[in-house]
Amino acid sequence: MQALITGGTKGIGAAIVHSLLTHEIDVHVNARNVDDLKSQYAELTQTFPSRQITWSANDLSTPEGVNSLVDDYQGAHESLDILVNNAGVFLPGMTTEEEEGSLAKMIETNLYSAYHLTRALLPLVLKSDNGHIFNMCSIASKVAYPNGGSYSISKFALYGYTKVLREELKEQGVKVTAILPGATWSNSWAGVDLPKSRLMEANDIAISVMSAIQMSPSAVVEEIVVRPQLGDL
Ligand SMILES: NC(=O)c1ccc[n+]([C@@H]2O[C@H](COP(=O)([O-])OP(=O)(O)OC[C@H]3O[C@@H](n4cnc5c(N)ncnc54)[C@H](OP(=O)(O)O)[C@@H]3O)[C@@H](O)[C@H]2O)c1
Repeated sequence: MQALITGGTKGIGAAIVHSLLTHEIDVHVNARNVDDLKSQYAELTQTFPSRQITWSANDLSTPEGVNSLVDDYQGAHESLDILVNNAGVFLPGMTTEEEEGSLAKMIETNLYSAYHLTRALLPLVLKSDNGHIFNMCSIASKVAYPNGGSYSISKFALYGYTKVLREELKEQGVKVTAILPGATWSNSWAGVDLPKSRLMEANDIAISVMSAIQMSPSAVVEEIVVRPQLGDL
């Protein structure tokens, strides 16, 4: 099987990449930073010498970036089974006070990237017998919280898009899953004064994704809601 993971060099995306490779699924990794992509590639090809690993650097917050990923991907692959729309950005703030452009930036990165990439690559996913699209939503897709601001708006929208996609693709044999994690250790939490055990590990999310992939063709996990044991932050 072949997967494409956006924002796959760090945090939750990197954990999903690792988990897919462990389960003998080939991966194409996207992110913006070329050095990160190269060093991850070097490490993964050592750990998983028999897997096919490819990557490309594209900024998915722009239509040009999405188009370049589509070109890179289709230049290297003729099939796509699993698409993980994971790339996202979190700019904290209140809608009444945040910097002008915050909403646009997060809608572009967190919603439009998934929308446009899915539309462009859907013909390949439809050809697969195991087609599965994951959208990385958030607990902030369901619950508004102080300082969540425009991030929450973008994740509510992505969750809404995921529900629409699920209905649209139900009859076409493609599974659609919304992932809604609570606080999970990653760069987004760098510098926060909390014990590691208060947040989830990125691999916890990867485990839940793998479990959704492993179900029989007659079952789909529509939503994965995972929270820290002690609840939301
Ligand atoms: N961590 C949490 O607590 C949490 C909870 C709920 C949901 N989420 C969601 O989970 C996803 C991953 O979060 P994370 O915490 O693992 O983030 P992270 O550690 O900051 O990693 C983000 C990944 O996305 C890439 N990326 C960012 N902007 C991009 C763009 N415009 N185009 C392409 N790639 C881009 C980054 O690489 P480059 O910088 O090189 O582009 C990186 O690989 C996000 O959608 C986030 O909203 C996170």
